[in-house]
Amino acid sequence: MTQKTAQPRVLIFDTTLRDGEQSPGATMTHDEKLEIAGLLDEMGVDIIEAGFPIASEGDFAAVSAIAKRSRNSTICGLARANFKDIDRCWEAVKHARSPRIHTFIGTSPLHRAIPNLDMDQMAERIHETVTHARNLCDNVQWSPMDATRTEHDYLCRTVEIAIKAGATTINIPDTVGYTYPFESAKLIAMLLERVPNADKVTFATHCHNDLGMATANALAAVEAGARQIECTINGLGERAGNTALEEVVMAMRVRNDILPYQTGIDTSKIMNLSRRVSSVSGFAVQFNKAIVGKNAFLHESGIHQDGVLKNVQTFEIMRPEDIGLTATNIAMGKHSGRAALRSKLKELGFELADNQLNDVFVRFKALADRKKEVYDEDLIALVADEATSDDNNHLQVKRLRVVCGTEGPREAELTLVIGGVDSSTDATGDGPVDAAFNAVNMLYAHNAKLQLYQVHAVTEGTDAQATVSVRLEEDGRIATGTSADTDTVVASVKAYVHALNRLIQRRMKSAPDSDVKTVSYKQ
Ligand code: KIV
Ligand code: ZN
Repeated sequence: MTQKTAQPRVLIFDTTLRDGEQSPGATMTHDEKLEIAGLLDEMGVDIIEAGFPIASEGDFAAVSAIAKRSRNSTICGLARANFKDIDRCWEAVKHARSPRIHTFIGTSPLHRAIPNLDMDQMAERIHETVTHARNLCDNVQWSPMDATRTEHDYLCRTVEIAIKAGATTINIPDTVGYTYPFESAKLIAMLLERVPNADKVTFATHCHNDLGMATANALAAVEAGARQIECTINGLGERAGNTALEEVVMAMRVRNDILPYQTGIDTSKIMNLSRRVSSVSGFAVQFNKAIVGKNAFLHESGIHQDGVLKNVQTFEIMRPEDIGLTATNIAMGKHSGRAALRSKLKELGFELADNQLNDVFVRFKALADRKKEVYDEDLIALVADEATSDDNNHLQVKRLRVVCGTEGPREAELTLVIGGVDSSTDATGDGPVDAAFNAVNMLYAHNAKLQLYQVHAVTEGTDAQATVSVRLEEDGRIATGTSADTDTVVASVKAYVHALNRLIQRRMKSAPDSDVKTVSYKQ
């Protein structure tokens, strides 16, 4: 009998809560970050980058809370190349069962110009800061930011210094999504060959998707010897995003014949995490997104459907259940009971506490009264919406009536509960949504600008729920609100009010000069 040799292990480093959250508008609340970190840990992510502790009190608190609750994953915090950042990072991650400090500095010519350090001065800074981090923590990751645009000789020199100073992981970021698979592989191979003791550390790849090649670049780096992939759920991240976790993990699973690597990820948890990240970040997943898009397993054309019915492998390279997509989309209706709802939600990946289940059950019954059949997507939208309607929110929508149609004026009558007190008004607008938003603004004056307003139908049919995302910007702070309802105008107003509540929370929590989005990478 031939013994199957174990495949090399590729570590999965998830940075949804750090690089992903840096995406404008993707800000998550403290509790949402804790929930996502818990799910990542449960899914088998090796390292969770939980935040940038020096960036704000909120980030610090989230990283320490995640560190304290961590079970299996290593918890990592980001720090620029200075002692103050590194000390603060250590204070936050030290509670973890397995902590890591990740420190970085921009090494390319463009990035060296920012702190105005010459090559020798920067080399000295790398030596001092990595040594300092290593004196605090046994597990230190170092990144030369913009590595893919750094001169090779200088990159080798800095990586050598970081290894000598005690870095245990060397991450090679393609910060601006500039590289190409062949080049990504050559860079890792070059470093492994030229840098002394490169074989004593783990090399990581961190790619951005500006040219749509983040997944390919990460996998090419693995083929060349990288053994850690940095990625985010749904590819969330600044600009075009980061490498998507679900893509690299499923690529290594489906094409294990040519990518013979293993990860510790329980892929059946992917779909639930994708939905939760989409819901808390307010970033909808595009329908044709690989692996987790709504259409990823849909076969519309007759030829495809026929083929799939005869043999699923005709047109499917992976099974929906591999990523936790339940095959049964059995509709629930108004006669379904609490136990059926609990079991359906469990199947969809939601394990709710009794009081949460009671609240969702009441809303499910109300929805089933308005809508003949309640599908999986409806329940997912309902649970997500439940999470946004907190009784402690400063603003709450109590009552809304709108008048619209071919004849103007379009009018909205709105009652908001503001800080526990009812306030009502009437307003007009160009349409029902405009009139309703004007009513909100009359009741609660603010300077936030509407950056994005998006409506999606959750299922087919005219009785479908609409999910609405609203993104607001106020003094450089961005907040996204979401809501779902069978009435699009109600969902819109609730999403608008949700975004305002998030801005209010952020205003209260962050000190004026300590907001994560205003901390630059300047060293
Ligand atoms: O893209 C990048 O360079 C980063 C670093 C901070 C690692 O996110
Ligand atoms: Zn990045």
